[in-house]
Amino acid sequence: MNIALPKGRLGEKAYDILEQIGFGCPSIREQNRRLVFENEENQVRYFWVKPSDVAVYVERGAADVGIVGKDILLEQSADVYELLDLGIGKCRMAVAGRKGTRLDTERTLRVATKFTNIARAYFASQSREIEIIKLHGSIEIAPVLYMSDVIVDIVETGTTLKENDLEVLEEIVPISARLIANKASYQFNHGRIQKMMEEMAAAQKE
Ligand code: PRP
Repeated sequence: MNIALPKGRLGEKAYDILEQIGFGCPSIREQNRRLVFENEENQVRYFWVKPSDVAVYVERGAADVGIVGKDILLEQSADVYELLDLGIGKCRMAVAGRKGTRLDTERTLRVATKFTNIARAYFASQSREIEIIKLHGSIEIAPVLYMSDVIVDIVETGTTLKENDLEVLEEIVPISARLIANKASYQFNHGRIQKMMEEMAAAQKE
């Protein structure tokens, strides 16, 4: 079973759960620059990938399953099965702006974001005209410098917004990590993937 994990804290948490339910691979704990780790005994192979690439590996079948944030799934609309909400990596997608911002519905709203599809879909559902300013990180700077009216971004603790005198103006959707599967792998390895899903769900409740 090939498992794509997102590099970083979320991926490490997800691996802890997988280890707990019998998909351990001790070499993954070694501090080195390797990207692929295998445990023949448990018949698993893990690889660390950029969080925004997990669904690509799964969709193309290089990974049978993967762990990915719902934000990325919504943004990319990958053709994969979403099997389980892992209840970790919880945050929310929100519209935020400078404190006290009133959204003028008469004017085209300038929206800075890296989640362009989520932003377009959200404002289209409200029939609001927007102009997207695509950024790749530190999105919060855009409204501070008046380059945009608002941002669409992830809010976890709210600290980044607070420390930049910004606030949540509208909530879009709650986000958390999901277990996803390649569609063909899910048919061929149904028993094993189903078991993984059930045990991950049970581990969550403990
Ligand atoms: C994310 C997000 C916010 C921040 C929110 O950024 O884009 O900037 O975390 O977290 P908080 O509410 O707990 O402050 P990330 O650190 O992933 O970096 P980025 O700026 O490259 O998106």
